[in-house]
Amino acid sequence: MPPPPDLSGRHVVLGVTGSIAAYKAASLVRRLKKAGAEVQVLMTPDAERFVTPLTLGTLSEQEVLTDIFPENEEGSWTKHVTLGQWADLFVIAPATAQTVAKLAHGFCDSMLTATALSARCPLLVCPAMDRDMYQHPATQDNLDRLRKIGYEVMPAAHGELASGLVGQGRMPEPGDILQRVADLMAETKASGKAQDMPLAGHTVLVTAGPTREPIDPARVLTNPSTGTMGYAVAAAAAERGASVTLVTGPTSLSPPSNVEVAAVQTAEEMNDAVQARRADADYVFMAAAVADYTPADPSGSKRKKTDEDLVLPLRRTPDILKTLGAHKRTGQVLVGFALETDDALEHARHKLEEKNLDWIVVNDPTEDGAGFGSSTNRVTLLRADGASEDLPRMPKAEVAEILLDRVQAAREKNSA
Ligand code: CTP
Repeated sequence: MPPPPDLSGRHVVLGVTGSIAAYKAASLVRRLKKAGAEVQVLMTPDAERFVTPLTLGTLSEQEVLTDIFPENEEGSWTKHVTLGQWADLFVIAPATAQTVAKLAHGFCDSMLTATALSARCPLLVCPAMDRDMYQHPATQDNLDRLRKIGYEVMPAAHGELASGLVGQGRMPEPGDILQRVADLMAETKASGKAQDMPLAGHTVLVTAGPTREPIDPARVLTNPSTGTMGYAVAAAAAERGASVTLVTGPTSLSPPSNVEVAAVQTAEEMNDAVQARRADADYVFMAAAVADYTPADPSGSKRKKTDEDLVLPLRRTPDILKTLGAHKRTGQVLVGFALETDDALEHARHKLEEKNLDWIVVNDPTEDGAGFGSSTNRVTLLRADGASEDLPRMPKAEVAEILLDRVQAAREKNSA
């Protein structure tokens, strides 16, 4: 037997639909995992009649997804978008006549079909159905249509079918599907498909986290930022092929492995790190919560308490983003983040103009599920041309993906 192909680090979404061959999906998941791939299984509701989500979830080490609008999971409805971007390859095995028809006509009534429509990666469809269904001109037309759209279609295998008939309609064997997956991955890698790496060749500068302003060696002025939003933007930009530098204040997060990190403490240090890199950046995302003031005269030794109240003189820190705005070069995109508790949009719009930004992402830290320390965010995107978009509450990683989609699309339109 040939050794399994090396799919380490590759992301595969496996869609499983309601055919008797669904049980073979378990073997396919095992083989993909053995080859080193990360696998996310999506099932249609009918698939669950043939194989349980628990089986495929256990084998893939990932919770299986079925609904676009899962109960008790507010905010996760955009998962089909992020999964579509995460995937290097989307395999649908087995694909029933029903799912083939839906894919051919752009239906999106389940997590599987919605993700297929959002996917930027190649799609491999492995049909499985009874002989006469497979041969029916409607099915053959739909399969042709899928090929025209650019999907890969593996012909069904010949043999004994669940109905007792003999003919073409069996799902290709998991080993053969795995080989086709490996070939497609190799082709995609070789051609470096531009659509999978829309930021390849671009430089992205992201700031994240709080700054820490020393009062004395034992005390600091800081804020509750955890860095989650900025780290999510950095990770998403790197996934899209950008060369990313993350200038980060102190956080407890591990930076994404494929970004260059500049760790800083104070607003002054963050300013130095950012201004030194601004000329190269095509996009700047200023997600850090930068202190506006720093102790004017930090003490070199620990201050002793007295019976008097303490008045601490503070001086202004540099406004990093305003300086970037003043030096913005043609084609460079500046994105600010605004934390506002009152008259949010009005204040944010003022910041957008004052700092010469292209976009500002507005959120209210006092709102439930938004702001500091929350894994989700509820933001409004404001654009320099006055357009705005309210996003529902969603995980910060999904906010990052949508933000990048919008910002990239606007830049491409402007430079067209
Ligand atoms: N920012 C910056 N340098 C500072 C302060 C803020 O670059 N010294 C950036 C933040 O990273 C953010 C944007 O400016 O992208 C808006 O930050 P925010 O704190 O909301 O607003 P400020 O400009 O500081 O104004 P105010 O605190 O008065 O609301």
